[in-house]
Amino acid sequence: MEQVLFRHNRPGRCITFDEYRDEGGFEALKKALTGMSPAEVQQTVIDSGLRGRGGAGFPTGKKWSFVPRDLPGRFLICNCDEMEPGTYKDRLLLEANPYSLVEGMILTAYSLGVNHAFVFIRRGYEQGADNVRRAIGEVTAAGLLGENICGSGFSLKLEVHQSAGRYICGEETALMNALEGKRANPRAKPPFPAIKGLWGRPTVVNNVETLANIPYIIAHGPDWFKGLAKIPEAAGMKLFCVSGHVKDPACLELPLGTTLGEIIDSHCGGMRDGSSFKACLPGGASTPFLTPDHWNLPLDFDSVARAGSRLGTGGIVVFDQSTCMVAATLNLVRFYARESCGWCTPCREGLPYVVHLLETIESGNGSEEHIEILTEHLKYLNYAFCPLAPGAMGPVEGLLRHFEEEVREHIIKKRCPIQQHRPGGVYGN
Ligand code: NAI
Repeated sequence: MEQVLFRHNRPGRCITFDEYRDEGGFEALKKALTGMSPAEVQQTVIDSGLRGRGGAGFPTGKKWSFVPRDLPGRFLICNCDEMEPGTYKDRLLLEANPYSLVEGMILTAYSLGVNHAFVFIRRGYEQGADNVRRAIGEVTAAGLLGENICGSGFSLKLEVHQSAGRYICGEETALMNALEGKRANPRAKPPFPAIKGLWGRPTVVNNVETLANIPYIIAHGPDWFKGLAKIPEAAGMKLFCVSGHVKDPACLELPLGTTLGEIIDSHCGGMRDGSSFKACLPGGASTPFLTPDHWNLPLDFDSVARAGSRLGTGGIVVFDQSTCMVAATLNLVRFYARESCGWCTPCREGLPYVVHLLETIESGNGSEEHIEILTEHLKYLNYAFCPLAPGAMGPVEGLLRHFEEEVREHIIKKRCPIQQHRPGGVYGN
C-alpha cells in the first residue's frame, strides 16, 4: 500500500537529511519557491481537500484563506502538544522524519507570507524536539531555510518551543498564551487566531500531520492526494494509532475511509485471543464510542460524524467484552477533570461532579436519578469556555447512547456486573 508520511521511514532510527533529499525531499519546496505564487500554493491545498489532522478536521486551505494579507507580523505555529489519550502519531512522525514537517512549514509560511514560525512540542517528546532542532540546523545550512530561501526573496525564522506539559496547552488559544509566557488559559473565540492570534497578530495553528502532508500535495498535485482516500468524499491518508485489546497495536498510515473492521482485522491481527469487539473510541478519548454496529463504517471525518461520533485524532482505543464501559468512561473523565485549567465553572466544578456520579454508579451505589443527572450534564458542560469539557463528555455521551442498559445493570444489581468476573484492575486491561 502507498505510504506518504511513512514512506521515508527506517527501522529503528530517524532518516538523515541526505536520505530525505535523495528520496525527493525539498523538491516541492524548490518547485513552489521558484515557480509558484503564494496564492497558487494556497489554492493547491484548498483543491486537495486536506482537512486538519489534529482532531477538528477543519479544511486546511480554508483556514489559511482567513488570514488577512495586508496586516504585517503574521505567525505560523505547528501544534505538537499531542496529549489526547490514545494518540501518539505526531511523536512517531517526528521520531522517524522531522524533515517533512520542516519542509511543510516553510511551504505554509511562504503561502501565508509568514516570516516567523514556531514548533510547539509537548514536554516529554524530547527525541522529537531534538530531531526538529537538528533538522532546522541542517535545512538552514543547505540554504533552504533562513534568509532569501532559494533566491526567492522569502525569509523564515523557525523556532522550537517545548511546552511545560499540560493537556490544555494543546488548545490553540491556550497554546498561544503559553508561548507568550502567560498562564495557559484558553481565550474566547471569535476572534479566531487567523485574525487575532499570537501577540494579537494573525496566526495559523496547524497540527504536525497536517503540515507534514503539504510537501507531498505540492509535489504530486491535489488530484493525486484526493485519490489516496478510499471514498470520494475524503482526501488523503490518515495516521491511525490503534491501541487496546487487539493482537497487534500499531500506528498505521491508511487511506481515509478504511473501515473500522478492516483496520482491526487486516492491519492489527484481529482482537486478542478469546476477545470479542465491544466498543472503541475512534479518535482519542474525547470522541463518543463506536460499537459492533459500526464495524463496516468507513473512518473519515464525515462518515464518523454521521455515525454520531468524531474521527478526532484517529487514536483508536479498542475495548473487548471484559471491559466495564462505566469504569472505562470513569477512567477517561478522571483524566479530563485533572487536566481542567480551572478557568470556567462548568469545567472546574462539572467534571469532578461527573467523576463522582460515575464512581457512585460503578461502585453499585447509583440510582436512576444519577443517569438523569449525567444526561443533563451533557448539556451543561457545553456551556464551558473551551472544548475541553464538551470533549470530556464525549465518552459519557457514547456510554449513555450505546450502553445505558449496562449502566442500569450496575444500579439494579448494586454492583459492577462485569468487574466481578475479573480479578485484576478496574479498567479492563
Ligand atoms: P474547532 O473546530 O473550534 O477549530 C478548528 C480550527 O479551525 C481552529 O484552528 C480554528 O481556529 C479554526 N476555525 C474554525 N472556525 C473558524 C472561522 N470561522 N474562522 C477562522 N478560523 C476558524 O476545534 P479546536 O478547538 O481547534 O479543536 C478541537 C479538536 O481538537 C477536538 O475535535 C479534538 O479531537 C482535538 N484534540 C486533539 C488533541 C491532540 O492531542 N491532537 C488534544 C485534544 C483535542
